[in-house]
Amino acid sequence: MKIKKNKIICGDAIDILKQIEDNSIDLGITSPPYNKGEKNKGWLVKNVKYQNNSDAINENVYQDQQIKVLNEMYRVIKPGGSFFYNHKIRWDKGRMYHPIEWLNKTKWAVRQEIIWDRMIAANIRGWRYWQVDERIYWLYKPIDNNLIGKELESKHALLTSIWRFPPERKNGHPAPFPLVLPTRIIYSILGDTKAGIVIDPYVGSGTTCLAAKLLGFDYLGIDISSEYVKDAEKKIKNSEKYKGVVEEEKGLHYVEKTFQERKKNRENTGKFRENNETQVKLL
Ligand SMILES: C[S@@+](CC[C@H](N)C(=O)[O-])C[C@H]1O[C@@H](n2cnc3c(N)ncnc32)[C@H](O)[C@@H]1O
Repeated sequence: MKIKKNKIICGDAIDILKQIEDNSIDLGITSPPYNKGEKNKGWLVKNVKYQNNSDAINENVYQDQQIKVLNEMYRVIKPGGSFFYNHKIRWDKGRMYHPIEWLNKTKWAVRQEIIWDRMIAANIRGWRYWQVDERIYWLYKPIDNNLIGKELESKHALLTSIWRFPPERKNGHPAPFPLVLPTRIIYSILGDTKAGIVIDPYVGSGTTCLAAKLLGFDYLGIDISSEYVKDAEKKIKNSEKYKGVVEEEKGLHYVEKTFQERKKNRENTGKFRENNETQVKLL
């Protein structure tokens, strides 16, 4: 890689990604600007404005840009590696735009759609039920055309496909991840190996890189705003402050019996039961 690891780089995602070698990164996590439009969306949405870019461009142009970034990410991620892409369903003049529209035009295999239940969100008009969900797409780079890949350990998989945690509030950035989100992903995918590099091409306040550092991994972040880059660097320097969040999340990744053990004992592995203690504890 021409670029040094454990850095936050100020620049355009695609330009910087182009400088990274093929198949050199273990895991990607990101949340791009959503192209929300900045007009007629209510005061809360209007307030989510980034420092250096407009979040209101022609939708076809936006989707083409996203496809380019997604394919560049595909090139730099190692075969067998993953990219977790956070986005949401949007509407414009009554037309629904679902992220799968452009994800299916990329090289990635879509391995799962995770619902992120934020419990709170900006749109407080009655055109639809209050949309408090976002989506996280687990994208996978196959080895030898095998789209299935390696199984997750039971202790991670039992966290279910619905993730419930509120958005981050104590942060100067307009749309940061809560720290638990990248922590859950990195710990589930890279485990306790402490070897590997995690990238976020739209790193904002640096949450993905902070989680990577706290879990013992190398990282690389990119953002177009020099102000956010400075904030991210500061946050990562003070990473020790955030250790508690990571330890708490790691504590949720456990099972008393693995899927294999349950199968061998002919015990229930899937359906909800009142006395299914593992499920209840994890909710
Ligand atoms: C949704 S925010 C990411 C927030 C991040 N997940 C966090 O935890 O703070 C999207 C970020 O993309 C950045 N951005 C917008 N256009 C970009 C581009 N072309 N290249 C790199 N970064 C860009 C914005 O400055 C913003 O910080």
